[in-house]
Amino acid sequence: MSPRKRVVILISGRGSNMAALIDAAKSPDFPAEIVGVISNRADAKGLAIAAAKGIDASVIPSKGVSREDHDAAIDRALAAAKADIVCLAGYLKLLTDGFVTKWQGRMINIHPALLPLFKGLNTHERAIEAGVRIHGCTVHFVTPQMDDGPIIAQSAVPVLISDDAEMLGARVLASEHRLYPLALAMLAAGKVTMEAGRAVFSDFADEPASGRVISAPAPRPQHPDMESLARFTP
Ligand code: GRF
Repeated sequence: MSPRKRVVILISGRGSNMAALIDAAKSPDFPAEIVGVISNRADAKGLAIAAAKGIDASVIPSKGVSREDHDAAIDRALAAAKADIVCLAGYLKLLTDGFVTKWQGRMINIHPALLPLFKGLNTHERAIEAGVRIHGCTVHFVTPQMDDGPIIAQSAVPVLISDDAEMLGARVLASEHRLYPLALAMLAAGKVTMEAGRAVFSDFADEPASGRVISAPAPRPQHPDMESLARFTP
């Protein structure tokens, strides 16, 4: 196996996706290792979780610092960690174009909606408001335009008639925790690259016949509606 890619995760808060990535990377055949976690907020709950899992966790505060200086400090920390890949996991600070361009193709993000639908915040409320019957999450390359980079992988979940935003959000979050490690593994193993503004896939082993979708395993049915809907899940 070629050397595992070195990954730093940027967070701002809870860190549940960060934890999913750290746990997945504990497996010796996972093609990436998590070498550090950086938060822009000292009160991010994910910092203690990372430390408890034995990962170097540090704070580079963004408050009161220009975006350029803050991103330069992150870039220095990434160089010190010899990072190959950056994963944004609930990182709530907009990154400068210069930083994004430097890391383009090597920086990915998870978004709690099926992009290009519902960019930005409050995605679960907006999905319910729009009346969609399917919602989900997306892992994509980060580009200067927010939530707009080439899509690497998506996972869909049903929207139940009885859902409120919190219930739907919990179902999406569980699917995020399955999808993000799969997508990171694809990137770290060189199975997906970003070329000319598109995601290019070199390994189709996981691809269902219907299209370029890597679907996470279907969630266990938790509701009668889901049992019938699960039959339609590929
Ligand atoms: C997740 O829903 C993620 O998709 C979005 O921010 C949230 C972060 O949650 N970008 P967590 O910090 O990973 O628990």
